[in-house]
Amino acid sequence: MKSHVLLLLLLAIASQARTVRVTPKMELAFLTTTAKGEQPYWNHIGRSEGASTHTITIVPKLRSDAAAQCDSRLMEVSTPSSPKYGQYLSMTEANRLFRSRGNIQKVNLNLHKPTDQVQVKDWLKQNELEYTMEGDFFRVKSSVEKIEKCLSAEFHDFNSTDGRKILRAAEYTLPSHVESSIDFISGIVNFPTKGKRDFKTTTLKKRQDGTVTPATLNSVYNIKDNNVASQKSTQSLFEALGQQFSSGDLTDFQEEYNVSVNPVANIIGSNNGWYCLLNPNNCGEANLDVQYIMAVAQNSPTTFWVIDENSNDPFLDWVVALAKDSNPPLVHSISYGSIVSEEPRDDLLRYNTEICKLGLRGVTVMVASGDDGVANFEARNDASQCGFNPSFPATSPYVTSVGATQGPESGSAEIACSSATGGIITTGGGFSINFKRPAWQETVVSNYLKNGPNVPPLNLFNSTGRGYPDVALLGLNYEVYIDRFATPVSGTSASTPAFAGMITLVNGKRLSAGKPPVGFLNPALYKLATSEKVFNDVTSGENNCCAQGGPCCQYGFTASLGWDPLTGLGSVDFEALSAALLKM
Ligand SMILES: *[C@@H]1O[C@H](CO)[C@@H](O)[C@H](O)[C@H]1NC(C)=O
Ligand SMILES: *[C@@H]1O[C@H](CO)[C@@H](O)[C@H](O)[C@H]1NC(C)=O
Ligand SMILES: *[C@@H]1O[C@H](CO)[C@@H](O)[C@H](O)[C@H]1NC(C)=O
Repeated sequence: MKSHVLLLLLLAIASQARTVRVTPKMELAFLTTTAKGEQPYWNHIGRSEGASTHTITIVPKLRSDAAAQCDSRLMEVSTPSSPKYGQYLSMTEANRLFRSRGNIQKVNLNLHKPTDQVQVKDWLKQNELEYTMEGDFFRVKSSVEKIEKCLSAEFHDFNSTDGRKILRAAEYTLPSHVESSIDFISGIVNFPTKGKRDFKTTTLKKRQDGTVTPATLNSVYNIKDNNVASQKSTQSLFEALGQQFSSGDLTDFQEEYNVSVNPVANIIGSNNGWYCLLNPNNCGEANLDVQYIMAVAQNSPTTFWVIDENSNDPFLDWVVALAKDSNPPLVHSISYGSIVSEEPRDDLLRYNTEICKLGLRGVTVMVASGDDGVANFEARNDASQCGFNPSFPATSPYVTSVGATQGPESGSAEIACSSATGGIITTGGGFSINFKRPAWQETVVSNYLKNGPNVPPLNLFNSTGRGYPDVALLGLNYEVYIDRFATPVSGTSASTPAFAGMITLVNGKRLSAGKPPVGFLNPALYKLATSEKVFNDVTSGENNCCAQGGPCCQYGFTASLGWDPLTGLGSVDFEALSAALLKM
């Protein structure tokens, strides 16, 4: 059994039908038996207690043309040559613009056309379900009994091999007017993806030569001043899966590496630094993220944004929270991802539109491209999972996806990071299967497909999709303080906060010059690649191998002149990048 995610299949609705049956692709039964000797991830316990409380998130539909409209508006505000460059929307404007007004035909007796939100609201009220509005989203927190009655569903308890407990149903039924008013509901049939994970690998070796410190990043990428020029230039780290940072380690790190000693300014969610003492794996990602983003962009007010480890869906909770935050941090670093083929497609499409809306508001999102080359983390322990398995949100066309390089940390030339060349991890990259290639990367990606060395057979991957990553930075052996000791940590998880910090520095300069932040960066980055010397092209390396210990698969991509699906446009000369972005 490859995927344990149940996909919603919306059956065609006859126009007179009062209800639509929503049936998942797989039945609950597979969870109670062990498929082909594999350990099932979620174990069935039994029928849920009617009096227990359950939470579901209802995502009302946007206007039917929201995705296309958002895309074209985003290009206007993010393309440097456009007259609307940098003219961002407020939260209220961005939300209102794409909110659905409902289907006129269905409400022909009403003078007012109810919005899809109103349809959902009325239905929840009729069924006496307790809910709160989180921006445009509904968070229903009610008794199992009431939710079951309303959805004609039957909930069962499951626990997972990592100790979590959830409630799920095999199927549910919605009235057709409600069904047509929502994109999806989280927390009923879909199981949290087994494989969401962070992209870092810790090697418990002691300090050694060939490591990366804040000073290495400054010298390799030509950063002259790490002090952010405006306090309005804010940055944030997305964290999930139980990662917590240690403020003691952060202070030790800042003192040791001559970084301005500053705490994290803002914690959203809860953080317990002592988790680190229980098990250094609980803070490896989080400590790496806070230590490096705050070392590259010093004195920027930094937010540690933790999604609860029991969340049904960390990305959904993150987009919901941002969609109702009128003043969010300007740069977000996400070192997490999941395997696209295991996520419900409707959910991905909607997250993507929400990320687009953030771009309209001038927010920049950076995402790690993954550590297992073209395959994904499931292949690390199972060579039968080799193949082209893109990651999300790295393949969203509205994020800047960051890959990893190696070499300069030990004085050699910068090449794509690969476990085959001692890199511990292998830079993720490839092509989206959901989102087509955006215009801003058309020239360089088609050039790669035509002229790149050893391009795998085109029938093996989706060459029409959005190519990723966009840029790459060192990803090998960052010195991170974990439980009081400098520990080398590797991954696109390291490259991502480092690049995010650089963009916070750029925003600082722009804001102090009275200009808007850079927002969605890619149209500007790909433009600069043709005109100015801001990128260090990385032209050597392959990404057919998984992270250390995993297999090397038959196919992967090979780095080339210009853009390639290992290192994107390359690494950067920060001073040149910053000067060019400041001019825009
Ligand atoms: C799941 O719950 C059952 C019954 O409560 C228990 O016996 C089992 O050990 C739990 N399994 C895990 C992996 O936590
Ligand atoms: C730290 O900064 C001080 C003062 O600027 C300088 O003298 C010292 O060499 C620096 N140390 C390191 C390790 O960079
Ligand atoms: C390839 O990607 C496009 C989007 O660019 C998508 O519409 C199509 O379904 C994908 N094909 C496959 C086989 O995944």
